[in-house]
Amino acid sequence: MPSNPGIPRLTIEGLHVLPLAHPQGCRGYLVIDPESREALAVDVHLDQVHEAVHYLELDDWRLGWVIDTHTHADHPSGAAALAAAENAVRVAHRDADHAGVAHLAEDDSSLTLGDRELRVCYAPGHTPDSMVLVGAGAVFSGDSLLIGAVARADFIGGDPGTLYDSIHDVLLALPDETTLFPGHDYARRLTSTIGEERASNPWLQLNGRDAFVDALSANPPPEPANMQALLRLNREGRPIPPRFSAAETVRHVRAGGAGTILDVRTEAEIQDAHIPGSKLILLDEIAGRIEEVLATPAPRLLLCHSGQRAESVRQYLTRAGVSGLSTIDGGIVAYAQAGGAVTRGAPWEPTAATGSCAASSPPSGGCAATPPPAESGGCAAAPPPTS
Ligand SMILES: [Fe+2]
Repeated sequence: MPSNPGIPRLTIEGLHVLPLAHPQGCRGYLVIDPESREALAVDVHLDQVHEAVHYLELDDWRLGWVIDTHTHADHPSGAAALAAAENAVRVAHRDADHAGVAHLAEDDSSLTLGDRELRVCYAPGHTPDSMVLVGAGAVFSGDSLLIGAVARADFIGGDPGTLYDSIHDVLLALPDETTLFPGHDYARRLTSTIGEERASNPWLQLNGRDAFVDALSANPPPEPANMQALLRLNREGRPIPPRFSAAETVRHVRAGGAGTILDVRTEAEIQDAHIPGSKLILLDEIAGRIEEVLATPAPRLLLCHSGQRAESVRQYLTRAGVSGLSTIDGGIVAYAQAGGAVTRGAPWEPTAATGSCAASSPPSGGCAATPPPAESGGCAAAPPPTS
C-alpha cells in the first residue's frame, strides 16, 4: 500500500493522480492512465524516487515520461534517478539545459498518456524554463501558481512581470473547474481549482500587473539553502557524492550551506566545538527525527568527530529511505584543519531560517493566503504585505 498516509489517490476524468508530499513542502505527482497502464511523473523529489518506484511496481504501471516543470533551486530533482530506474524519458522545457533530458518540450506541444494527450504550456516567470501541464481537467502548475500563493521570481532568471503574464494568460485562461496540482504546498493542502484561486488567492486580487510586480519585488525571501549546489545537481544530473572532503565542506559552508550539516555527535562534543549554523541531531534521536532530516535541503552532510559515526548514520538513513546524504571525511577534526570556522565552548544555537520559493503576500487586506514556514527553503513567494 502507498506509504504516504493522508495523501489519497485522486481520480480526475479517469486519470489517477498520486500526490507525493515532502516535508520540505515540495509536491510531486504520478499521473496514471488505468486503461493503458501508462504513467508519467511530474516534479518528483529525489527523496521520493523509492516511493514512486514502489507505487509503479505495486500495480505494474509503465512509466513513460519524467517531467521537471522547471529547474528546481530548492531541492534535488529525482528525475534522473527515476527515469533511470524505470527506463523512462526525461522531459524539460527546451530552455532548461539539463543533462540527460531526451525530450525538450516546446510551448503548446503534447505528451501522450495512453489515448490521452497532456498539453505542455510555456509559463516563464518563476524561472525562464517554467512550463505547466494541462489535461483531463487538471493543471500541474509547477511553482507558477500555488494554493493561495505564487512563485517567487527573484532568482535564476525569474521575472515578476513575466510571471504575472504567465499566470493570467496561461493559468487563468483555464476553466474555473480545472483542478490545480501545485509544485509546492507548505500547509499540506492537496488541491485547489483555478476558480478558487481566481476568487481568493491574494496575489490574484492585486490591481493589475504593476501592483503585482511591485509587491512581488518588495520582499524577496532569503535564497534557498544550498541553491548553487542544487542547481548544479539538477542541471548536470550528477548524483550526490556519498562523501565530501573537508575542503569541499569548507567551500560548501562558506557558500551558505551550514544549515544542511547534521551533526550527530554528543552534546558535550558539540559544545566543545561545532560548525556555526549546523543542526544537532543526537545519534539516539535519529530514528524519531527522520522527518526533520527530510526537511533539511540536500545535499545533507553528516558530521561526527572523525567520520565513522556519520557513515553509520548514513547507512541507517539510507535504509530508512532518505536520499541525498553525504558524510564529511575526517569529521570536524579534518574540517577545522582545512580552515573551516568552528565555534568553541559555546552552546549550540538553532539554524537560521533559509528562504523558500514562495513569494511574500501581496497587499491583500486580509485575504486568506497562507505563507510558507520561514524555514521551508522552497519556491513559493512569501505572503504579500497587507495594506
Ligand atoms: Fe521552484
